[in-house]
Amino acid sequence: MAILVTGGAGYIGSHTCLELLNSGYEVVVVDNLSNSNVVALERVHKLAGKPVTFYEVDLLDKEGLEAVFSENKIDAVIHFAGYKAVGESVEIPLNYYQNNITGTLILCQVMQAFNVKKIVFSSSATVYAPTASGEAISEDFPLGATNPYGRTKLMIEEILRDLYVSDNSWSISLLRYFNPVGSHESGQIGEDPSGIPNNLTPYITQVAVGKLKQLRVFGDDYPTSDGTGIRDYIHVVDLALGHLKAIDKVMTTAGVEAYNLGTGKGYSVLEMIHAFEQASGRSIPYAIIDRRPGDIAICYSDASKAKQELGWVAERGIDEMCADAWRWQLNNPNGYEASEESMSIVK
Ligand code: NAD
Ligand code: WQD
Repeated sequence: MAILVTGGAGYIGSHTCLELLNSGYEVVVVDNLSNSNVVALERVHKLAGKPVTFYEVDLLDKEGLEAVFSENKIDAVIHFAGYKAVGESVEIPLNYYQNNITGTLILCQVMQAFNVKKIVFSSSATVYAPTASGEAISEDFPLGATNPYGRTKLMIEEILRDLYVSDNSWSISLLRYFNPVGSHESGQIGEDPSGIPNNLTPYITQVAVGKLKQLRVFGDDYPTSDGTGIRDYIHVVDLALGHLKAIDKVMTTAGVEAYNLGTGKGYSVLEMIHAFEQASGRSIPYAIIDRRPGDIAICYSDASKAKQELGWVAERGIDEMCADAWRWQLNNPNGYEASEESMSIVK
């Protein structure tokens, strides 16, 4: 069975490609490499002992995408491709709407034309309206994104729901990720942010490896146990495995369903720092500064729907997340950049 993975060279995509190959799927990747490096797919090939079929194609290039569907018999699509930086989306919203929304529209048009109607979409916990309740967030919580990036996710969810209403033979899973972290245990593939990281764990790992001087902790006056923000960090390999369960679901059941992918447990920023210090044996210098605008105190999932309906639970805890993130950072202090691997797989 062949799965088309859009954005498959990226952080979550590359881990998902590896798990798909390990489970016997054929994998076809479409990625424009705007935020990734093809070396990630070379490494996936080595780890799995099997290659992916890679097309350097932009989702906005409809003809290029049609060629991919003509040349491969695709059974289902996992759709990761998109821009994802919240702050950047506030500065250049039109680019975000163009890339994320138009890219998805073109993908769905081509899928429809080739009668491929099974899709697993990368949504985000950012689609939930901010809440001060501190409760676990379940899928029926009120929705309401607070930035252009989040709104693209919410709009795409609605577009996909409309598509299903128009044609009940579609099978659609909307996966709302909480905070993906860590890397494959080999330390060969991982998160490779360009520039200064926005997210907590890549920032911590770059401080630990000496690339950045100190972590800035955004606020210690939240109503939490130690005053710092609490999030539901999920190991990227657990997340990847969630996509395989969602593929099982869309292969067997028509419909459209949203699922939270998280652990159901929250950790504070200081707890993450300490767990990382344990895992790496290095100290992480940090300074408490003001809250970051737009942040909320607490955000963690109720992941029981994914357990009941997909048969999926996250199994890896924060010690493993930190140890694996550290192994990747230590092996690849400059990410994929300085790699000498070939780029022979580009179509
Ligand atoms: P990533 O940037 O590493 O991967 C996205 C990939 O899509 C990149 O390889 C990029 O080159 C590619 N891409 C972007 N626009 C494209 C286009 N028009 N055509 C072809 N390829 C294109 O990001 P990631 O962290 O792996 O995230 C994957 C998906 O999961 C994204 O949709 C993101 O919004 C979503 N998500 C990520 C997080 C997170 O914290 N990492 C959380 C929730 C949801
Ligand atoms: C986590 C915690 C910060 C950096 C973002 C997106 C969300 C989703 C996941 C895509 C918070 C604190 C952070 C730092 C810090 N992405 N922090 N110093 O904001 O929960 O979610 O990524 O869909 O849409 O908004 O993740 O990793 O940025 O922050 O103190 O340098 O770490 O305040 O409490 P966030 P994060």
